[in-house]
Amino acid sequence: MSIIYDTSPKHCAAANHGGGGGALLRLKKLDKKLLFSLSTFLFSLLIISLLIWLIFHPSKPLFYLRDATLYDLSLTSPPLPRRLNSTIQATIFSKNPNTRVGVYYDGLVSYAVYKGQQITADSELPSFYQGHDDSNFLSAALSGVSIPVAPAVLYEVGRDQMAGKMLIRLRLDGKLRWKVGSWVSGWYRFDVDCAAVVDFGVGGAGGGMRAPELESVEGRQCSINA
Ligand SMILES: *[C@@H]1O[C@H](CO)[C@@H](O)[C@H](O)[C@H]1NC(C)=O
Repeated sequence: MSIIYDTSPKHCAAANHGGGGGALLRLKKLDKKLLFSLSTFLFSLLIISLLIWLIFHPSKPLFYLRDATLYDLSLTSPPLPRRLNSTIQATIFSKNPNTRVGVYYDGLVSYAVYKGQQITADSELPSFYQGHDDSNFLSAALSGVSIPVAPAVLYEVGRDQMAGKMLIRLRLDGKLRWKVGSWVSGWYRFDVDCAAVVDFGVGGAGGGMRAPELESVEGRQCSINA
């Protein structure tokens, strides 16, 4: 009784252990095979997408401010609100750095911003296509007429005039499509921000402010959000 009691569980356990072990081994083998083929599959997928990404991933186009000239910046005399007239001529150099991807530009609009306030009207630029490694000059004639300015902006203009320099931001908004071979992507919005530091000449005195023909530096790279 004690022997049966002693051996039977042992035997049972051993048999169970043996059988279970075999099944487990088979399962492990299957797991390994499955894991191997799955990882091979995932790995090749990764390699393929990496290759596609490396070959076709387009870099954002580059924009540089070539020149910007402020021809007129005048403020009305009091009473408030004081109004600003401005005329700005800007040239932006645009380059497609991709060797295999072309870029379609559309809906291009440029305007000037001073201290967070838009000081010119939107100026539309023609749509165009930029091939591989191609570059273009974009010319924008911006003007603002009788744009009411906030007192804070007024204060800043006065301060900048004393400092002899003024920071104007030239913006370019639009949308673009990538072209790879004969495939063309959907539209992506982008916006470009160029900082133009213009030097003040000796502005006219009097009730209003005038600052004719101010030149700016050139060759600055603009930031782009795409
Ligand atoms: C701005 O331009 C308008 C239209 O030409 C003119 O009537 C106004 O007097 C100008 N304002 C200033 C401050 O020069």
